[in-house]
Amino acid sequence: MLDTIVQYPVEQIRSHFPNLSIDIKGKKLRYLDNAATTHKPQSVIDAINSYYKESNSNIHRGVHTLSQKATKLYENTRSVVKEFINANALEEIIFTKGTTEGINLVANSFGKKFLKQGSVILLSQMEHHSNIVPWQLVADQYGAVIKVIPMFESGELDMDAFSRLITENVSILSIVHMSNSLGTINPVKEMIELAHKEGAMVLVDAAQSAQHLQIDVQELDCDFLVFSGHKLYGPTGVGVLYGKKNILNELPPFMGGGDMILSVTFEKTTFNKLPAKFEAGTPNISGVIGLGSALTYMNSIGIDAIQEYEKSLLIECTNQLQDIPELQIIGTAKEKASVISFTIKNIHPHDVGSLLDADGIAVRAGHHCSQPVMNFYGIPATSRISFGMYNTIEEIDDTVKSIRSIIKMFA
Ligand code: ALA
Repeated sequence: MLDTIVQYPVEQIRSHFPNLSIDIKGKKLRYLDNAATTHKPQSVIDAINSYYKESNSNIHRGVHTLSQKATKLYENTRSVVKEFINANALEEIIFTKGTTEGINLVANSFGKKFLKQGSVILLSQMEHHSNIVPWQLVADQYGAVIKVIPMFESGELDMDAFSRLITENVSILSIVHMSNSLGTINPVKEMIELAHKEGAMVLVDAAQSAQHLQIDVQELDCDFLVFSGHKLYGPTGVGVLYGKKNILNELPPFMGGGDMILSVTFEKTTFNKLPAKFEAGTPNISGVIGLGSALTYMNSIGIDAIQEYEKSLLIECTNQLQDIPELQIIGTAKEKASVISFTIKNIHPHDVGSLLDADGIAVRAGHHCSQPVMNFYGIPATSRISFGMYNTIEEIDDTVKSIRSIIKMFA
């Protein structure tokens, strides 16, 4: 582990992120809220700037030079994403506003095509609200039933329960790859295999995993996979839905508007081919271009190197926090990445978050949009440290020191 830390060019990486060198309340920023959003490297900021300065135009609509330039930049990101997740075809990459829109799109289009009275939608106890509420909305519409895979105290899914729940009544399993509140990495490949045996389709919520783990959609064999740009060092308001081409072809569109049609009359509209069928209206062009730049940046560091380095941060931070008797780590799964949720005896997580902020340390405090996880542990909230590729051991040392003085202050 020490070798990983020594060889990884973290200081060089940090120098690419302008926001990391700002001060907060007179203290240098130690940013440990990467599960909420990551900072952006200069190359991403430059790509967005230069689009607006040199290529600003609408896409897919103009014969003029600028429009063609913008279209090329936009479509280039599709190729970058295709490679990044190893999709089979460009048409399988749909740009969205983010993970939430991706799940809503699938829930609505899949629901319209496949859900009927009594169909089962299988979720897990550790889903983010964005992978619960869209399904509740469509379940109500079609009389489908939501079932939930339980988990253990460790924050690991009960896989025996899963194999009992995954029956031929299940239409879709929509499952988080990595929990945003616990850090658990779920055995999605194994789950997809079992789900497919029962004829169910599978959506993987990769909002928290795509920035930490290698994603290979062909190897996973998932039917859909979603993630957001802003958690992968890219801009907000842009994300990706991957879907197998044959399945996307079967689904009805989610939103109607420009670009998603072939012909329109008041009597009848015919729809465009993939991916345009699912990209109605002028998209977030600058965001998509920024996303392409962010993934290119991640590729330049290498996801394996990032993963190994972040693992060493996770181990170091976990070890240091475990030495504090008043602190309890929530989520102790064997397979975990980059997230440590915790509670401290007699101190509300919001107080922990505010007092850390006074020291220039950014963590998230709250229910992390996963109230069912909080309910499971019988707690209202946790404080959450989450790492990105640019965090350091010194930041962990400072954070643990600050946590210890908060505990002393409350004693
Ligand atoms: N879903 C994001 C988080 O976990 C916002 O913080």
